[in-house]
Amino acid sequence: MAIAPEKTSLGALGERGDRNSPTVFNAGFHMAQFWDGRAADLKEQAKGPIMNPVEMAIPDEATAINNLREAGYSEYFAKAFPAAAEPMTYDNMAEAIAAFERTLITADRFDEFLKGDNNALTADEKQGLRTFISTGCIACHSGSMLGATMYQKMGLVNAYANTTDIGREAVTGNASDRFVFKVSPLRDVSRTAPYFHDGAAATLEEAVEQMAWLQLGRRLSAEDTASIVTFLNALENTKAPTLNTQL
Ligand code: HEC
Repeated sequence: MAIAPEKTSLGALGERGDRNSPTVFNAGFHMAQFWDGRAADLKEQAKGPIMNPVEMAIPDEATAINNLREAGYSEYFAKAFPAAAEPMTYDNMAEAIAAFERTLITADRFDEFLKGDNNALTADEKQGLRTFISTGCIACHSGSMLGATMYQKMGLVNAYANTTDIGREAVTGNASDRFVFKVSPLRDVSRTAPYFHDGAAATLEEAVEQMAWLQLGRRLSAEDTASIVTFLNALENTKAPTLNTQL
């Protein structure tokens, strides 16, 4: 059964976080983790949700490790960290999760196009890429992930409607970071609706239209919006969704 896309995710005790849950696909390529970059890397990120009362709500590190021991993970930790006197630590757990997440890499036809296969994208998708570039999206959505290389203000040219979340200012304490967020990467973006840190944009069309207005001060024509969406749809992961259960 397909899970309906939700703006925010339910935690273990039924509470909701206040931001849209980002995909873990390609997370290893981000310059920092979380919408506001408050964790430097995947290892630091992995330590957060386990004890966050709104997420997994595990009271302390010792309980988390004990749960793993009871679930029979001791031998796997011993194998993964052979040099460690005590392999099963909270730190090693985070390292192991991060190591797994770094393998979650999508592949799409844009990769083939970048490698030089001119036919990997259709004519309409190539037109969409041109529109994406000429509109100015590329100024922020750059690099191999088309994002996740910089922070930018959400509402750079025209203010964003939702002002409850001050973004990166809460991390740095600098007023100049108000409403600043990590530029979202766009690989596989067609499968991660709803969009933005608050999940306010229900569809990719809506997100693209809003981005042009908020970040670039432009009202896109319906044709240009559709063209960009056609390109973004080509960033869909083409790898078969397989789950290896042989731990
Ligand atoms: C000035 C920088 C900037 C420009 C220019 C820009 N964006 Fe963005 N984009 C961002 C930031 C920052 C976010 C994260 C916003 C937030 O807080 O939710 C974002 C988010 C998005 C998202 C939502 C992704 C998700 O997973 O929620 C899409 C889609 C997107 N941008 C597409 C575009 C398109 C298409 C253009 C061109 C019309 C564009 N952007 C121009 C900075 C920019």
